[in-house]
Amino acid sequence: MSNDFVMRIDTIRKQARQHIDQGPITSSYGADRERVIKVLNEVLATEIVCVLRYMRHYYVADGLQAEPVKQEFLEHANSERDHADQAAKRIVQLGGEPDLNPAVLAQRSHTEYAVGQSLADMIKEDLVAERIAVASYQEIVRWLGDGDPTSRRMMEGLLADEEEHADDLRSLLAGLPST
Ligand SMILES: [Fe+2]
Ligand SMILES: [Fe+2]
Repeated sequence: MSNDFVMRIDTIRKQARQHIDQGPITSSYGADRERVIKVLNEVLATEIVCVLRYMRHYYVADGLQAEPVKQEFLEHANSERDHADQAAKRIVQLGGEPDLNPAVLAQRSHTEYAVGQSLADMIKEDLVAERIAVASYQEIVRWLGDGDPTSRRMMEGLLADEEEHADDLRSLLAGLPST
């Protein structure tokens, strides 16, 4: 067993010297790289659409109840921006290109740019979007499995944050006087 491992290290050392232009991608990468890049571009689009929706809600939220809700919208917008950053960086590490073409972002996003009119409607639309992100990111985590642990860990982090966002919105909604 230990001899096998030494043999494997020799192979790994040899292979690491080949294709050095691929940076962190080695022969041990166990996922379909092109497909992972494509899926991460969908995640990137989802995050950007979420940033835009939260920003809009932050700027238009008005009224007596609005102040704490506005702060939550702003916090979430910043968090989604950080998620977009993580996804884009991982795409580049994988040798892909982050696609930020505004003309196609909305089509590729898993969530919609739905804007509510009342404060309650805005929170509801955001909650729906978070629930979509939670469900689709769970699928992505399962699909990545052991093939690309780094991308999977990143997606697990995003998933945990989206669950927290959904929980924040649920309690904000419950705290509104007439919903
Ligand atoms: Fe996010
Ligand atoms: Fe979120």
